[in-house]
Amino acid sequence: MSNWQELEHKYFMSTVERIPVTLVRGQGARVWDENGREYLDFVGGWAVNSLGHCHPVVAEAVAKQAQTLIQTSNQFYTIPQIRLAELLVQNSCLDKVFFCNSGAEANEGAVKLARRYGKHYLGGAYEVITAMGSFHGRTLAMVAASGQSKFQQPYLPLPVGFINVEYNDIEAIKVATTKETCSVMLEPVQGEGGVNLPDDNYLAAVRAWCDQTGILLILDEIQTGMGRMGTLFAYEQYGIEPDIMTLAKGLASGVPIGAILAKDRASVFTPGEHGSTFGGNPLACAAGYATLKFIIDNDIAGNAKKVGEYLVTKLEGLRQKFQFVTDVRGHGLLVAMEFSSDIAQSVVMDCLDRGLLVNRLKPNALRFIPPLIISKDEVDEALGILDKALSNIVS
Ligand SMILES: Cc1ncc(COP(=O)(O)O)c(C=O)c1O
Repeated sequence: MSNWQELEHKYFMSTVERIPVTLVRGQGARVWDENGREYLDFVGGWAVNSLGHCHPVVAEAVAKQAQTLIQTSNQFYTIPQIRLAELLVQNSCLDKVFFCNSGAEANEGAVKLARRYGKHYLGGAYEVITAMGSFHGRTLAMVAASGQSKFQQPYLPLPVGFINVEYNDIEAIKVATTKETCSVMLEPVQGEGGVNLPDDNYLAAVRAWCDQTGILLILDEIQTGMGRMGTLFAYEQYGIEPDIMTLAKGLASGVPIGAILAKDRASVFTPGEHGSTFGGNPLACAAGYATLKFIIDNDIAGNAKKVGEYLVTKLEGLRQKFQFVTDVRGHGLLVAMEFSSDIAQSVVMDCLDRGLLVNRLKPNALRFIPPLIISKDEVDEALGILDKALSNIVS
């Protein structure tokens, strides 16, 4: 057998601290490594495998589409793209869709759309206000949008046009708004930045401010969308509607895809102003349609809500048991556990040894982002392992 990890060091750019496991197969909420060892997966491809690994409806849709039509240029109409766009519009508050290939690309496109809107209706306004602690992707502009200096410092100078303000501070948004502002862009719940929840009324106050000033509200639902928070989209829980929303991650349950959705009035691109070679190709859209249809028809968001509440209750139990667990927070199946010191990596490695994959969110925090089809029994199994790993920290 090849030593895959040695080969990786030889051939691959070192951009991620990998966990020393080579995964070769997945099914449902489980994956297997090259030695046949099984793991319960609470990472879910970083909140991507909404229906778990290789769900039959997704695998069948991809296989069928791969034998029919994989890619055309976007100069031609293709049916999977139109079917997915229709389903997204029918099940959201938005009217128009553009497909791309990733989250960062969706957010880039959303910012371009807001700038275009600024040119048409706001006297050339182009600035976008974003929040500290946010994460919007890895392109240069999205690094500028993401309010985290660790992502920004290595790449200075950054593209202009992004103002990072304190999260959960409506006054900061008001102060930062000028005649150059075309939009505010926020994650409803900050995922990568720490599973940071919005204060009561924060999002409603931002919406009201955007209405008052005429600027657009972009919601980045790349991590929170597709049922993860217990409703199909997170905005539904905050009594607001965005003008523009971005999706990616869970939209096709693992097949790369991104989407920009917009209200009619914000949908101001004209032919030639934006585009993508692969975006919306039939293969990805067939996977997206199969995923979204299954999520809707089987109330997978309801499962995320129910099992997410169960997960939080069980994690709270561990917080009571272990003094060094200082916080449990989250919504649906986007949940974090925080510690009083930087033990997250050793907990991750101990869980790994015991057959559980969990995500180190920060040096002192874990994130639980399993497939949305996860069961209470699987939560019990995972938390049994986590309990043992945490006990090990104590002794
Ligand atoms: C909220 C949010 N926006 C954007 C992105 C970037 O998505 P991608 O890695 O597909 O470019 C992520 C990825 O973690 C994310 O969580």
